[in-house]
Amino acid sequence: MDIIIRANAQEVGEAAAQVIAPFVREGKTIGLATGSSPLTTYKELIRLYEEGELSFSNIQAFLLDEYVGLDREDDNSYFKTIRNEFTSHVDFKDSNVHSPDSTDPDPYHAAALYEEKITASGVAIQLLGVGVNGHIGFNEPTSALQGPTKVQALHPQTIKDNARFFNGAIEEVPTHAMTQGLGTITRAENIVLVATGDTKADAVWGIVEGPLTAMCPGSVLQLHPNVTIVVDEAAASRLENVEYYRTMERIRLG
Ligand code: GLP
Repeated sequence: MDIIIRANAQEVGEAAAQVIAPFVREGKTIGLATGSSPLTTYKELIRLYEEGELSFSNIQAFLLDEYVGLDREDDNSYFKTIRNEFTSHVDFKDSNVHSPDSTDPDPYHAAALYEEKITASGVAIQLLGVGVNGHIGFNEPTSALQGPTKVQALHPQTIKDNARFFNGAIEEVPTHAMTQGLGTITRAENIVLVATGDTKADAVWGIVEGPLTAMCPGSVLQLHPNVTIVVDEAAASRLENVEYYRTMERIRLG
């Protein structure tokens, strides 16, 4: 695991975009994440596109997750969110952005189909945020560490955290989501996880220095050979080995 610590969210986004950019230049398939954490990364990727340094016209993307029951065009769907925050600002084709079919009357069937689609394509680099309780995608605590794409009942904490996107109305937040499983996510060849702010400090500790446990789903990244964790000072505030990580970054070869 490479740990990169930056002063603030903007620098986190710049560093994460630098990890992703070479894959885009090679036309590789990327995995996209919603949430506020990746926004500065998207901002930087958009800037690189505007500067003429990157093009997404032939890139395929897979989203991590989607709420069950929300149509793609619903303002709170993750497909629409990704379009608003990122893909519509660059030369991404909507038809190249894949997500679980949240309107399938059988979400278990939709989840299985999505798993097949990702397996057939492969993902070269997956961008991740992390929930306050350590969830990645929508894999809540107790998720199988090697599980496939699945239907997940959301943790009350996650529903509370995400109510801000539904005008604060907890009862409006869907109770279920479809998410790439931890097994699906960790089959991506490379992973970059971004986290900012002190509310993420416990989750970041769990992922980097805590035990491997389904109670902190992000800790599964300890098993993956190509992971970069990019955090700001606040999200790194519970880490015990900050100086070691800074030294490792300074002396990293290539
Ligand atoms: C949701 C998403 C996750 C995301 C998490 C944290 O639950 N499914 O992919 O990482 O929120 O969101 P934020 O970055 O807004 O804190």
